[in-house]
Amino acid sequence: MSDGPIPPADLPLAARAPGKCILFGEHAVVHGRPELVLAIDLPVQVGVRLGTPGRLNGDPNGATANPYYRTALERLWAGGASLEVRVNSRVPRSAGLGSSAAFCAALAAALSAARGGVSRTELAERAFAIERAAQGVGSPGDTAAAVGGGYLSLNAPGGAEVFRFTDGERSWTARRVPDPSWSWVVAYSGLPRSTADAVRAVGVRLAAPDGPALLDEFQRVAEEGIAAVRAEDRTKAGRCLDENQTLLATVGVSHPRLEALLEAARPAIVGGKLTGAGAGGSIVVLPQPGRELDAARRIARAGGLPFVVRPEPNGAALVGSAGDDLDDPSA
Ligand code: MEV
Repeated sequence: MSDGPIPPADLPLAARAPGKCILFGEHAVVHGRPELVLAIDLPVQVGVRLGTPGRLNGDPNGATANPYYRTALERLWAGGASLEVRVNSRVPRSAGLGSSAAFCAALAAALSAARGGVSRTELAERAFAIERAAQGVGSPGDTAAAVGGGYLSLNAPGGAEVFRFTDGERSWTARRVPDPSWSWVVAYSGLPRSTADAVRAVGVRLAAPDGPALLDEFQRVAEEGIAAVRAEDRTKAGRCLDENQTLLATVGVSHPRLEALLEAARPAIVGGKLTGAGAGGSIVVLPQPGRELDAARRIARAGGLPFVVRPEPNGAALVGSAGDDLDDPSA
């Protein structure tokens, strides 16, 4: 498990960070309720080297047009030389699997290394600040997973505190949850979605009179789900996944394609749900023991893009141990 700092390193350098899937509590976490997020073994790698003066990736507007680059460069590279940034991702984009959080974490790790290194706590804050400024809404769950790795709970009791975040309005505490040694299957529906739009739509839905009661239900299911993962109780965890899916459908972020993928996987799983913002994006299912490939095949036959995933215990890191063995990002 990576909990050490990002060391100093000279350009050119490369950093990577894992994608994620949310097991319980997405959307409700934005409103301060519990979440369980898992860093998965699908990484995003970012290579950074000096570029053409006045340009980012050859584009004179590159440093300002893209909100992620704009925020990262403003916050972490003020007064710095022009850069070229290459991104290599195994995480499908806009799929609910944390590609933007992993990109923020890897880019922040690379820029911070080139500016003398950074503690992991500070890196988590930097990655969240970049994603939040670019998206305008959201919780630090995705970036916490990309920086901290493994299973992390937010706003739930129990376990060692890993990170604490505040955005002035709300605070979140991320804690370590032990790995129950399960494989999961995530699958992209092929329907891209916007996190910011889905978060805003759910915010409107939760402002209805039954909103507080719905949030309480999200909280109960997430707390029971987290307890089931801690207890390595697969059957209970599966039931909580299904209950969480019902709640997500109630607040309007499921989609017939997601329901069809979940239905196709059903004979091989103990439970499943959409993962991430929903309204498209991806599902996550917990297979019956030994039936990971069966679940993946059933989902693929129904038109999804499945990945059998394991937890990625390491969060954001430079590629190459001490900065002396880095992939050449220009290669
Ligand atoms: C997106 O991956 C998860 C949401 O809860 C938004 C957020 O927490 O930032 C929908």
